[in-house]
Amino acid sequence: MRVHVADHPLITHKLTVLRDQTTPSATFRALTEELVTLLAYEATRHVRTHEVTIQTPVAQTVGLAISEPRPLIVPILRAGLGMLEGMVKLVPSAEVGFLGMVRDHDTLEPSVYAERLPDHLEGRQCFVLDPMLATGGSLLAAIEFLFERGADDVTAVCILGAPEGLEMIEKATAGRDVTIVLGALDEKLNEKGYIVPGLGDAGDRLYGTV
Ligand code: PRP
Ligand code: URA
Repeated sequence: MRVHVADHPLITHKLTVLRDQTTPSATFRALTEELVTLLAYEATRHVRTHEVTIQTPVAQTVGLAISEPRPLIVPILRAGLGMLEGMVKLVPSAEVGFLGMVRDHDTLEPSVYAERLPDHLEGRQCFVLDPMLATGGSLLAAIEFLFERGADDVTAVCILGAPEGLEMIEKATAGRDVTIVLGALDEKLNEKGYIVPGLGDAGDRLYGTV
């Protein structure tokens, strides 16, 4: 598994405002989108391309184009929806599929309540969007779902991660082509499965449910 943790003052600055409990939902949504665009730059480092020859007004040159089949972007509802615009802005030719998941507040077990993905993902590169990688249960379920459908390469973009979840996913996906890009790797999980220091419940903060 490849792991990339962002190390950039602009990202840390935006994360600091995002974490602040006084930041209102509208600002939280805008910052989430900006952060995803910055993280997407790293997440797409291995996007599959092929050479194309084009003619500029001055000369013929060889460049790169994103290859077929198109990458698939999969936001995990609800909170991952807040990351979608930031990602599609950077990869406008990508297809978008959806997975709805919620984790039980007591057991922390995730369950799937909605799914709208292509049936066959052979040869597809998939980009999963979920702001929080806590126990890792939700992200692992999403990654397994995509591999079962035939995907051969999955990259997850998360705003914050906890070491416990990262370690669990690393063990469970050994030998698979998995990349995780994080805005920050936090200290730990608390007894309720929240990331510490974290930012609270990402879905609630995005959609004003607090
Ligand atoms: C949050 C978050 C992740 C999950 C992370 O979603 O967006 O999907 O929890 O926790 P885990 O790593 O322990 O599985 P939640 O279940 O609260 O649903 P929501 O997006 O609808 O708020
Ligand atoms: N889900 C969230 O929204 N926040 C956490 O800290 C953990 C899981």
